[in-house]
Amino acid sequence: EPLIITDKHQMRQWSRSNRAKCKTIGLVPTMGYLHEGHLSLIQESQKHTQLTVVSIYVNPGQFSPNEDLSTYPSDFLGDIQKLKIIGGVDVVFHPQNLYDYGQNDGFRNSEREDGKMVSCVENSGMGHETWVRVERLEKGLCGKSRPVFFRGVATIVAKLFNIVEPDVAVFGKKDYQQWRIIQRMVRDLDFAIKVIGADLVCDDDGLAKSSRNVRLSAQEREKALSISKSLLNAKFAAEKGQVDCKELRDYVVHAIHEAGGKVDYAEIVDQESLEALKEIKSPAVFCVAAWFGNVRLIDNLEINV
Ligand code: PAJ
Repeated sequence: EPLIITDKHQMRQWSRSNRAKCKTIGLVPTMGYLHEGHLSLIQESQKHTQLTVVSIYVNPGQFSPNEDLSTYPSDFLGDIQKLKIIGGVDVVFHPQNLYDYGQNDGFRNSEREDGKMVSCVENSGMGHETWVRVERLEKGLCGKSRPVFFRGVATIVAKLFNIVEPDVAVFGKKDYQQWRIIQRMVRDLDFAIKVIGADLVCDDDGLAKSSRNVRLSAQEREKALSISKSLLNAKFAAEKGQVDCKELRDYVVHAIHEAGGKVDYAEIVDQESLEALKEIKSPAVFCVAAWFGNVRLIDNLEINV
């Protein structure tokens, strides 16, 4: 049964006392509402270290005021239940608010007129003013439509790294750009942490597992399969010699439109630099974000020809 820690000082104390006993620690950062994708990350982490910490924290710093912070799904007791079943998780770190520094905290969540909770990332002058930005990598793909997202992710992950002090941290390739950004941050800022990328886990029908999938209606879910299906067809086409990225992108965009989705982006980029490619010559990854109803989904597929 995992120990639940909510206080960051207690979390750091736990890590330090275990490190003093020469134990190695793995960290799997999550925002909860755990599914098999998250569980596979935990299993990956367990291969590398003696102890495993799972953090569950819905980070207000990575949501814009118009995004879905207030409706982000959560089920803490259900999450604990799932972790008990898979076993081998030593600590669940579940802080209440990692930006709460006291009275004049400009980073508090506040209520809009319509009663929704929003994140005050713009008014963050007083309580929190330091942000980690991975300047080039954060610009493209999801960074275009979510301009403060990756600074929020990089900053909270840096905070979690400083609190938990893990040896290893595992991120899913589901969020490919996020994984690359964290890898780069660790390298550029000399965190003594090994970052591991874990494979994307899909449902039986091919839909990439996501906490947000519960908000899709049955029909939307069916239509959303156009993302994974068209990506797979594009990969097959590339393997047969169709390496022109514009052709492949047009095909995927068209397939998603046909199904009633709204494409945010569909881009083929270099696996490491995330620079857009004209032709698939080096290891590439085809990244897609699309809206079905009011749910934004992302998916990607690595293509090595
Ligand atoms: P969250 O969306 O909860 O995801 C937590 C971790 O699980 C991320 O590393 C993500 O890539 C991974 N993951 C999610 N779905 C997956 C799937 N289908 N297959 C494999 N891995 C999957 O990503 C975040 O939270 C946050 O941005 C966080 C890193 C915790 C910072 O707040």
